[in-house]
Amino acid sequence: MQRRDFLRNTAATGIALSLRSAGNFSGAAEPQETTPPVAVSSVLSIERLDTDHFRLVFRPAEPRSLRILQITDTHFGNPEAEHQERDARTFELLRRLLAAERPDLIAHTGDFINNDRGDKISFAAVEVLDSLGVPWTHALGNHDVGHVPTDEYYKLPRQALLGYFDRGGQRQRAARYDVVAGNEHPAFTLYAFDSGFEMPRKHVGPPQLEWFAEQLARDRKAELDCPQIALVHIPVREFEQLRASEQFSGIFGEQVCFESDEGVAFDAFRRCGRLRAVFSGHDHENDYCGLRDGVELVYGRVTGYSGYGDLPRGARLIELDPATGSYSHRLVFGV
Ligand SMILES: [Fe+2]
Repeated sequence: MQRRDFLRNTAATGIALSLRSAGNFSGAAEPQETTPPVAVSSVLSIERLDTDHFRLVFRPAEPRSLRILQITDTHFGNPEAEHQERDARTFELLRRLLAAERPDLIAHTGDFINNDRGDKISFAAVEVLDSLGVPWTHALGNHDVGHVPTDEYYKLPRQALLGYFDRGGQRQRAARYDVVAGNEHPAFTLYAFDSGFEMPRKHVGPPQLEWFAEQLARDRKAELDCPQIALVHIPVREFEQLRASEQFSGIFGEQVCFESDEGVAFDAFRRCGRLRAVFSGHDHENDYCGLRDGVELVYGRVTGYSGYGDLPRGARLIELDPATGSYSHRLVFGV
């Protein structure tokens, strides 16, 4: 597909847009490295400090938790009529979820679009997400990588907070999001990691873990030690160990596909002593969670009707309380 066809395909959504101006963080032409603070709602402003670093300033009139809607595995864009109908159902579910849960931020944990299915795939869902009036993040999933280069794909969203850094001549898709509330120090830091798309690297790999270690070192220097949350697509291997321990709650419905992960990422998460939870996607028939070595492992709930599996579609609402540094989460279904 030529670039002009790709863009035309993207624009052909046919869905009425109500785009709220929230700035262009990823940039259609040239991604900007920094942006001044932009108010995206009455309680949230977003500032881009670097290509891989966002600051989310949360200032509600009354103290409350920041509400993050984790959606996952939407698998948008297949051209067949059956899939277009399923995508429309997913769009409708998203609107219901937003109306019911009023999130401040959406965190998509991967497989947003079936970009690996060839040149007929539509990227119109990008505009639908952008039309919801809520900023969104994306942890790159294995099906997100394919026909359209990620550089082109990631230029499309206007309301997504998409980060990257370059290492060894390779662009790495990862970002940190510091949630600031009350004072200038972060109350939480969220991380979105790319977990790879083809063997032998379908896990959070060495460049991203080196980068994570650098973030931790930077924080130590600045004497920052707020709790952290990781967002990934492919679950780390410890999800399977949690399953085997039977110390989990929720649904185990399919084998844990931790792919090529060998425990290195979780070891880094556990050893840093600050990372509280890993929120994952990928396995549509699993939505369980539980504690493993002091870190909570949490599957999202499959959101997209175009993906495989029979679980009722939904999402997970994550609430971060800046006053206490605690968090909670629960499944939500837009009712
Ligand atoms: Fe998926």
